[in-house]
Amino acid sequence: MGRLIVVSNRVQAPKDASDSSVGGLAMALAAALRAYDGFWFGWSGETTEEFDGQMNVEERGGVTIKTIPLEAQDVDEYYNGYANKTLWPLFHHRIDLTAYERSYSHGYERTNKRFAEVLEPMLEPDDVVWIHDYHLIPLASYLRKLGVRNRIGFFLHTPWPARQLLVTLPHHGQMVRAMGAYDLIGFHTEEWRGLFCDYLIEQAQGKRLDSDTVAASGEIYRTGVFPIGIDVEGFVEGSHSELAIRTLKRMNKSGDGRSMMVGVDRLDYSKGIEERLSGFEQFLTDHEEWRKRVFLLQVTPLSRDTVDSYQDIRERLEGLAGRVNGQFADMDWQPIRYLNRTYRRDQLAGIYRASRVGLVTALRDGMNLVAKEYVAAQNPDDPGVLILSRFTGAAEQMTAALLVNPYAREELADAIYRALEMPLEERIERWQSLMDVVRHTDIAIWRDTFVSELQATAVTPPRFAASVH
Ligand code: G6P
Repeated sequence: MGRLIVVSNRVQAPKDASDSSVGGLAMALAAALRAYDGFWFGWSGETTEEFDGQMNVEERGGVTIKTIPLEAQDVDEYYNGYANKTLWPLFHHRIDLTAYERSYSHGYERTNKRFAEVLEPMLEPDDVVWIHDYHLIPLASYLRKLGVRNRIGFFLHTPWPARQLLVTLPHHGQMVRAMGAYDLIGFHTEEWRGLFCDYLIEQAQGKRLDSDTVAASGEIYRTGVFPIGIDVEGFVEGSHSELAIRTLKRMNKSGDGRSMMVGVDRLDYSKGIEERLSGFEQFLTDHEEWRKRVFLLQVTPLSRDTVDSYQDIRERLEGLAGRVNGQFADMDWQPIRYLNRTYRRDQLAGIYRASRVGLVTALRDGMNLVAKEYVAAQNPDDPGVLILSRFTGAAEQMTAALLVNPYAREELADAIYRALEMPLEERIERWQSLMDVVRHTDIAIWRDTFVSELQATAVTPPRFAASVH
């Protein structure tokens, strides 16, 4: 195959193969880019007064990165606006938080067009282009308008919303039609893919051609399910690193014989952190015998903090953590340790391994890799228990977790009790089955399956170039 060109809003290539400061996705894509000799294109994260066509080109850990800055209005309307205030809440089924501003959609289209104009001259005929996430949905349609015939794939890292919610978006039809410019559209789960096809069939009067393909509005949509995973070997190795072992010891020491539960999430309303704290509060209310014998470490790095709904959830969480601690803490015990900071992957591995319970209670989540990391970091002879929301993509595969409905506080409280009391034999049995899933949905498998399916698609028919001018 020719080169692989990866495009995403945020570009996070690691410094080298042992760089623990970036996520597993960045590591996997960087490895593919090294193998296929391509480059990674996206936003530099910087703001400029007026874009002058100047691109930053950088080599990082053997990967070529090409980024452009955005003008303040683009950051406001495209990134903070349409991406984070419109599509993110809508795709997570939160139309109560969705902004339906025309200026945001204009900024989104304008910025996608700009990305296309900068990218197009850098493409060579054999390049395979892989575009990521909700920030860049119409990018392929703009590339096609510029005459690009290369294979172009799209992968959505979030859920796809139910048709009944998607139709609240003005121009939903235009957005979905633009997706016809892709040769392959990937989702994490059958559920998200099913909702996408449901829209095509019910809303756009589409016709199913086979289990993966739907014809609608004059376009052919080829879809696939590619559940993302983690770098299992790397993570397991990391959990044996010196730093991970030191962290594990530090946590055990500071836990002072108490059972630790852990939650690790970007501070986002989709993660169900409030519901988690309420479930824990309920558990402490119901099980007096467990008070002082357990604590929850909630690691919550701040995220998108210029957006109102993120400021609101931050305030609510601070209030709730304070309230639970105020009500239950004693001079030598605090039930919730709530922190807004990030840790390196190998430190996280030590934290996960020290935890008797891993709590993933997202209200809706494309996949959720914390669930997989938690499992991969466990001690096989004495593993912890994963409590997992039914509304995550991960729940479609990780059925041996304790699956919960995070909206139901008492159900969550019961699951916490069951997890803390679970006998070793059952913990090992569940963990083995979860670890099998984690291994069989490794990040390299995800990446290679997507790229080879994209490569195997028929070359884009010339009708695009003909129809869009
Ligand atoms: C989610 C999205 C990613 C995004 C990340 C961090 O995982 O699917 O595309 O990069 O959140 O959000 P941020 O807005 O900081 O890029």
